This record gives sequence, C-alpha cells and structure tokens, in this order.
Amino acid sequence: MCGIVGAIGVNNPREYVIEGLKNLEYRGYDSAGVGFLNKKIKIYKDVGSPSHLDEILPKNITSDVIISHTRWATHGVPSKKNSHPHLSMNKKISLVHNGLIDNYIDLRNFLISKGYTFYSQTDTEVIGNLLEYYYLQNNDMLVALDKTKANIKGSYACAIINEDYPDTLFMMRKTSPLLVGKGKGFNLIASDASPMVKYTNEFIELDDYEYGYITKYDIKVFNRNNELVDKAVTIKDLESYSHDLNGYPHYMLKEIEEIDTVIKKLVTAYYQDNEYQFNKDLLNDLKESDHIIFLGCGTSYHASLVGGRLFENFNNISTTKYIASEWAFHPTFPGVRPFVVLISQSGETADLIHCQKIIKKKGFRTLLITNTPGSTLSRGATYTLLIHAGVEVSVASTKAYAAQVALLSLLSGAINNDKKVLNDLKDTIRVIEYIKNELKDKIKGIAEEIKDHENIFYLGRSFDYFLSMEASLKLKEVSYIHSEAIPGGELKHGPIALVNEGLPVIVFITDPTTANSMRSNIEEVKSRGAKVYTISTKDLSKDEDSLVVDNYAYYLSGVAVSSIAFYLAYYVSLAKGYNVDKPRNLAKSVTVE
Ligand code: G6P
Repeated sequence: MCGIVGAIGVNNPREYVIEGLKNLEYRGYDSAGVGFLNKKIKIYKDVGSPSHLDEILPKNITSDVIISHTRWATHGVPSKKNSHPHLSMNKKISLVHNGLIDNYIDLRNFLISKGYTFYSQTDTEVIGNLLEYYYLQNNDMLVALDKTKANIKGSYACAIINEDYPDTLFMMRKTSPLLVGKGKGFNLIASDASPMVKYTNEFIELDDYEYGYITKYDIKVFNRNNELVDKAVTIKDLESYSHDLNGYPHYMLKEIEEIDTVIKKLVTAYYQDNEYQFNKDLLNDLKESDHIIFLGCGTSYHASLVGGRLFENFNNISTTKYIASEWAFHPTFPGVRPFVVLISQSGETADLIHCQKIIKKKGFRTLLITNTPGSTLSRGATYTLLIHAGVEVSVASTKAYAAQVALLSLLSGAINNDKKVLNDLKDTIRVIEYIKNELKDKIKGIAEEIKDHENIFYLGRSFDYFLSMEASLKLKEVSYIHSEAIPGGELKHGPIALVNEGLPVIVFITDPTTANSMRSNIEEVKSRGAKVYTISTKDLSKDEDSLVVDNYAYYLSGVAVSSIAFYLAYYVSLAKGYNVDKPRNLAKSVTVE
C-alpha cells in the first residue's frame, strides 16, 4: 500500500527519498511523487515507479524539508493528478497520505461550501484543504492538525509541509503506520524503517491519534488530548532490513531459498537447553482457554488454518479460523474463555487492526504471530511471537508462510511439552534442502507445461489441502492464472464439472491417512482428461508421480513442501515474463480495509 518517506535536514534529500521510495516499492505502487519547500512548495509526481520519478525530478534539490510517496490507488484512478503529494487550494500546505478517509465526501462538500475547489478524485486532497481551512483561521499549524484530526474519520498516516514553516515537517497518524527516525542534526519519517535504517537505528513509532512535528534537532509528539508525549525510542538494525539480493535475480527466489535457514533459526529461538522458550503466561493462557479464534488474511489466513487444526488435533482445544475481514463485521467469541491468535507477517494489516480493536473492547487476550517487532498489531497484542524470517521483500509471501506454520507447530508442541515436533522439523529441513538442490529443474519443467493454461486445480486433503490453498494463491498472485484449491472429497460435489481435456491438476499426497482417497481423486480427474502432476512422499509414492520427497510428518506439509508450490509459481511467472516480485494490483502491506 502507499508508502511515505520524508526528512528534514538530511544531507542529500533527493537521494534519501528516491532510495527510500525504492525500498518501499515492495508495498505495491502505481505512482510516485515528491514535494519540498524552496520558498514555495514544489511538487513533482507522475504515474510510474520511483525510478521514473528520479528521471523527472530536478538533479539538485537543496531544500531542508521534503516529503515523498508511492501511491497504491484506492480513491481515483492512477494518474498524475491523483498522485501525492497533494497541494491545498491556496498552495500553503502539501501532504502525502496513507490510509482511507471514510467521510471525505461530507468533508469535501463542506469545503466546497466554503469556496474550496478540488482537482483530484482522492480522499487525501480533503485533508490538505481542511488543514489549510483551519490554518488560515489562526495561523497555528498544531491547532489546524488537532481540528483536522477531530473531523476526519478513517485511517491516516500523513507527512505534511506548510509554506510558512520552512523548518518543520508535520505528521499525524491513525491506524496506518508511521515511524520517526531520530538522527543527529536531521530527522526522518517513513511508513516503515527500511528507508531510514541507512541513516539511523533509533526509531519512534507514532500511536493512534498522535500528531506532532520534527525539525532538524527536535521531535515533538502529542496525544489526542494535546498533551506532549515522552515517546520511547526503539532500536532497529540495518541488517534485518537489508534489501540486498545477494546475487539472486529476484527477491522471491532468494526468499524461497532462505526457508531452510529460517526454520533452523526459528527452532533455535524457541527451543534451547532442552526446553521450549515460550512465555509461560502465554502457554497457560492457551491451556486455560476453552476456544481459540485464529484470524489472518491471505497467506497468513492459510497459516491460521494449519494452526487451528494443530491445536484441535494435538492439544484438544476447539478452534475457529476466520479471514479477518469476514470476522470483523460479525465477530463471535465461542466458549467461556476464548483466546485470539492473530497472524500477520507485516503486523500492519488494517483488517486485523480492526479485529484487534473489537477484541480489546471485549477484554480478551491475544497472541500476535508476526515478522515485524514493534508493529501496530504487536503493540496492541498481549503477547507477540516473532517468526524470525528476516525481511521479506517480494510481495508474494513465501518464507514467512513456512515460518508461520513452523512456529505454530512448535507452539502446539510446547503446550503439551511434546518434543516430537523438533525431530519432525529436522526432517522437513532435509526435505527443503533436497527440493532446493535436486528438484528445481523438474519444477521448472512443470512450469513450462502449465504456463499457458487459463485454469489450474490444486488438490489435497487436510494439511495438504491447506497447503493447496496457499499454493493456489501463490500461483494466482504472480502468474495471473486462475487457480483453485479443492479438498479432494469436495471434487465430486461441484468442481469436477470443470475438469476437461488437458486441465493441469496438481495433487499433494503426503498424508498416509488420506493417500488412498487422494489416489481415487486422481483417477476421477484423469478419466476426464486432466493432466495430473503429483507431489508425494516416498512411502506413499507411485512411479508416475512427478515429484517425490523423503518422508516427513504429514502435519508439516506447509513447511516441508511449500517451497515446491513457491518455486512452481515463481517459474510460471518468469516463463510468462511477469514482474515476479511486484505483481500487478497487489501490495505487501495492506494498510487499508
Ligand atoms: C497482502 C499480501 C499477502 C499477505 C496478506 C496478509 O495481501 O500481498 O502476501 O498474505 O496481505 O498480510 P499480513 O502482513 O497480515 O500477513
């Protein structure tokens, strides 16, 4: 989603914002823009990438204060006019915004009644004009920020400049993330730490309704009651935000190839000195709860399906698993002592933030499973467990999924103090390494065969079905081929009607209890002309299977063989000539509902 990068007093503002916006490209974008103060406000923006912005931006920018933005269109088509920064009607104020203003039509009508004219289709332009409207009443920008905040409904992270304040960059935040980077003789602002870690390792995270400003030497943050807040400084290191490709052609490939290392790191983080290293209170909360609600979106939802099934099968705890945006509007809390597990690699997903607010109001306890320490969801959760996957740049999530599943399996083991999972995870590492070293060419071959099809089916049962869902999503995301994941047993209840000559059907058979039924499913689709590609484990394999790996514990499919699904999606995307790391219309961190 939209990315914000701003600074005051930095030595080379041009380089900082262009590099910074490139670092945020992974969030998804369709246009980019820069605004700075050089007596008057100057704005350069266009549809396209930060590299294109680099071409249209003057080579020398000497301004002290600068804001910039990558836009992911919500209100209004991608166009130069709709790109950020936006300028207020009297050109006093300019801002960049990430979020959605729910009442922008009312506010727009109000401002039109006050003589304001609008030039874009965006909700953001309303914020700029409202700020200016209040600012012109008493020439005090902090008052204008406070009044604007009080009138806008929705989500916003904003970086704002005012022609009358050449030494100040203003900011305000609700729901959408915004961080200040604390420098010496300069200060920075951005949607996440990645644009800033080259310049500082000290960060301040703005909370909901907070606003304020940065100058070269000062950072002032006020809460919703206009009281000055003493904000804690957190340290983030450069290494964990590294966007280095390390010689790989794409982030997606690099990140798939990191899965084995990530799983090893994760096991070390949560199991030391022959003991699980989970917070005892968390384990007690989980044991004492009579119902666990799992919430997630996209890939994280798929991981939550695995988590729920693990807790049911191995810990005898009843669970429900919901897509966050579905649960949010009709929330239910089954049981007497429910506990909620939220899964989000970014920790910033707006749908989950919505859910978290509902849960907090009810007073129930939550665990967040995330890759992002200090994220918005983490600050609102009772407990946070990190998946330690390292930064994931590719929009399509890969190593984060495998790490989420591995962490859930460790947690399930820890609840019963059952250590079998540790050996089971060791087996998966061998399988992952084998796939990386031995199977890539075969997977590439399958990719070549399926790349021109319009429809593809994935089949599996139980844990293999959950993996099929993730495999299917991954293929859709990066290859734009329509695909469906179908639980083997459901095939005959509808989807089989779509099976025709040549339809590629990718089948996972890694669970001894479902293997026979899956073989019957294969016969059903084959006899209707489908071209079947089977992925199986040694003991369950047949000669005609496409990819066979060593045996592993069936409940760890999402760790052991997810890389097969990821490589397949990767190679299909490449074969079709698409931008695999930045698929169209998608964003890595979805900060609007
Ligand atoms: C977006 C991303 C997906 C991700 C989902 C949930 O749709 O493109 O890769 O699975 O958001 O994100 P989260 O950060 O909450 O895991």
